[in-house]
Amino acid sequence: MSANYDQDLILLVCASGKQCSALIPLLSGKWKRLRLHVNSQASEESIKTRYPQAEVVRASLENVDHVRRIMSGVTTVHHVGPPFHPREKEMRNFMVDAAVEEARNGTFKHFVYSSVLGPQLSKLMNHDCKNYVEEYLMESGLNFTIVQPKTPVFPAFWNPDVQFSFTALNDLAEAVQKIIDEREKHYMAQYPASSTMPMTNSALVSIASKVLGKEVNIACIPFEEAVDMLCKRLYGTTQVNARIRDEPERMILFYNKRGLLGNPGVLEWVLGRKATTPEDWMRRQIDS
Ligand SMILES: NC(=O)c1ccc[n+]([C@@H]2O[C@H](COP(=O)([O-])OP(=O)(O)OC[C@H]3O[C@@H](n4cnc5c(N)ncnc54)[C@H](OP(=O)(O)O)[C@@H]3O)[C@@H](O)[C@H]2O)c1
Repeated sequence: MSANYDQDLILLVCASGKQCSALIPLLSGKWKRLRLHVNSQASEESIKTRYPQAEVVRASLENVDHVRRIMSGVTTVHHVGPPFHPREKEMRNFMVDAAVEEARNGTFKHFVYSSVLGPQLSKLMNHDCKNYVEEYLMESGLNFTIVQPKTPVFPAFWNPDVQFSFTALNDLAEAVQKIIDEREKHYMAQYPASSTMPMTNSALVSIASKVLGKEVNIACIPFEEAVDMLCKRLYGTTQVNARIRDEPERMILFYNKRGLLGNPGVLEWVLGRKATTPEDWMRRQIDS
């Protein structure tokens, strides 16, 4: 049952995204068979150039036949979904169904699902859909591990004095690497993955000022403008339909009042070390 680094096929979904970009370098030397999923042609080209040893597959996660194709012969999947997609729940359930099919044929062993910190927060549409996917995965009979991260992005799109917990991408990638490598030790586990206790974005900006040695100011962006900027960042345009715009709108409204709170204890247990502090994380960004 233990890992076979030469034979096992590891599928990483959304390979061009932030999470996989930190994870792939940790896996690619050790696991000989990596299958990297991409959505766009641009990402297909760039991922093929960056990881010439890996198998790169382009597929629409909305198409159940594509999903079955990329899941074929897989041993472990690390499933990250596209952000703020109106069909996110269906796409992720297709992945679970395809994995169940593979498990019936005897090849599939481990479904590692990258969810979100606080999937129970139903007022956040992008969290609520992940809650249902977690339920679907937990009832599937598969061996699973659910990781619930919050990534360290700072936009002043919401009130900077509301508290959040942040997850350093390097901590998240190292934790997922251990989960994939150690396999059985993490079956049926759910890990809220936060690197910090709750802190405000204002405090984070003060740390950035200290690390950079110059004052960083906070510009609070009005709601409609913030939604436009987020849509532009996510979809390349502000001209998105109302169903797509609903998710970033509700996230900003929620974050303005409530934030997102976590505790680094679980992540530190998985890592076997202290989590990365915001100051360490910023120094790494400057050095890289
Ligand atoms: N940002 C946060 O604070 C945060 C926190 C916790 C969890 N999450 C979750 O993490 C996930 C995003 O992961 P990430 O941050 O690593 O990604 P990311 O950096 O936002 O990149 C987006 C990824 O989605 C892919 N994609 C876009 N549209 C797609 C489609 N229609 N079908 C299939 N793939 C598509 C893109 O592939 P191409 O480049 O090939 O188009 C790209 O790999 C989301 O589910 C989000 O809810 C985010």
